[in-house]
Amino acid sequence: MTKLPICAVQKAEPEPSSMIETFRAIGYSMEAAVADILDNSISAGAKNIWVDFDWKGSETWLSIRDDGSGMNSEQLIQAMRPGSKNPTESRDAKDLGRFGLGLKTASFSQCRRLTVLSKTKETQPDYWTWDLDYVRESGEWNLIKMQQNQPQLDWLATQISGTVVVWNELDRLVKNVTEDDEVARSKFLAELKKVKSHLEIVFHRFIGPGKIRIYFQERPLEAWDPFLESHPATQKMPVDKYHNGKILVKGFILPHKSKFESERAFNAASGPYGWNAHQGFYIYRNERLLVVGDWFRMFKKEEHYKLARIQIDLPNDLDEDWQIDIKKSIARPPLKLQDKLKAYASNVRAKAVEVYRHKGKVIQQKFRSEKFHPIWQEKVRRGKRFYEINRDHPFVIEMIGQMGHPKQAEQLFRFIEETVPVPLISIKESEEPEKHGVAFEGADTAPIKTLMLQMLESLISKGVPSDEAKGQILSMEPFNQFPHFFNQ
Ligand SMILES: Nc1ncnc2c1ncn2[C@@H]1O[C@H](COP(=O)(O)OP(=O)(O)O)[C@@H](O)[C@H]1O
Ligand SMILES: [Mg+2]
Repeated sequence: MTKLPICAVQKAEPEPSSMIETFRAIGYSMEAAVADILDNSISAGAKNIWVDFDWKGSETWLSIRDDGSGMNSEQLIQAMRPGSKNPTESRDAKDLGRFGLGLKTASFSQCRRLTVLSKTKETQPDYWTWDLDYVRESGEWNLIKMQQNQPQLDWLATQISGTVVVWNELDRLVKNVTEDDEVARSKFLAELKKVKSHLEIVFHRFIGPGKIRIYFQERPLEAWDPFLESHPATQKMPVDKYHNGKILVKGFILPHKSKFESERAFNAASGPYGWNAHQGFYIYRNERLLVVGDWFRMFKKEEHYKLARIQIDLPNDLDEDWQIDIKKSIARPPLKLQDKLKAYASNVRAKAVEVYRHKGKVIQQKFRSEKFHPIWQEKVRRGKRFYEINRDHPFVIEMIGQMGHPKQAEQLFRFIEETVPVPLISIKESEEPEKHGVAFEGADTAPIKTLMLQMLESLISKGVPSDEAKGQILSMEPFNQFPHFFNQ
């Protein structure tokens, strides 16, 4: 006990109805909530987990069964207590739990009634229910025992040990809807489809032959490997280790589209939110995936970096450093690691761009026209160097033609050319070479793509074969830097 100068004590317990609403407002998505329940099953050593649900309008239920070690009556009551474990307490190295809250907060975020039934090798099944309306009405945190759990009890009786979590009154999704409400039904099924793909992603390292089998409505889930490790064209970067080897970082550059056996395989590898969304860091805590592609504000997600994916493996005792949230869906690298991670990622991203641009580059090399057209040219006048805009550049010719004022354009060019800040550029370049951006870095490149496609169309309409037309365009600056715009 802390030594405080206390002269009176007064109980001020949290009021159940407001606590309930607080628990409910943590902001779990349905998929994150189900995953949190599965975390417990996996931590309990389950080899098989079954996720089942039955659409019955507002009577719809969902259950998660496992054949893990289970709980005896005392442990079950302890597990039902909100905050059953202190988050600062150290945990078994394989434990996926975090705050001693997941079972309750995840369940209450989706339903108003949570029943947990469990049995260990040594004990008979026991069960308890949290009914939020009962808690609210009675004003007390009392678990209740209800008579309607026979099917789950019967199932448990066939198991050596295991646990069943049942959600009833899923009011977030199916409040006041009838069984024949087709709109509500398809909305519910769409949510459950998200749950399915989420589980295939976050538990992908656990699912597989000889590992854990997760059944979704009786059908086994298939692991989704974000890194396509077994694909021969996937490039693997060397592992970086931090924090005395506790944190492992490994970058992957996924194969170019042309290396996939089919469009379908390429799309399957993209992930549920598409290639662009799934680039970035993937954070695993004890093998369980928390973050599915994020650059943590170090970079923007851009099309040409979409093949870059980097895995970070963490143990479960760095939660505070990495700001792992209660839903286990957010993590952030600690400040002291950000520079290192950024440098590592820059390297992976640079390689990913190369792969992404590969096909365009092949066309570029094959059909490179005799002449390369730079925008800027070096000229010598009276023994001195100057830089001039290339008047023979096809795009410059085209633009001057379109503007219809060649004389003014010439005047403008001359002004620009005579005042290029060469000395300033030279000084800056020698002082901080890494600070010089390359053409269009960080800028919106969509207009360039549009322009390139327009030029392509125009050349094709003049009878130039497509690949040759691409080659001509790609031999002009700055289009030579964007061969990937001709990828599709
Ligand atoms: N499926 C399960 N099998 C065995 N024990 C479980 C199961 N689910 C929950 N428990 C027990 O209940 C406790 C509380 O779970 P939870 O509220 O999710 O918090 P946490 O996982 O952070 O400890 C767990 O630590 C575990 O001891
Ligand atoms: Mg848990």
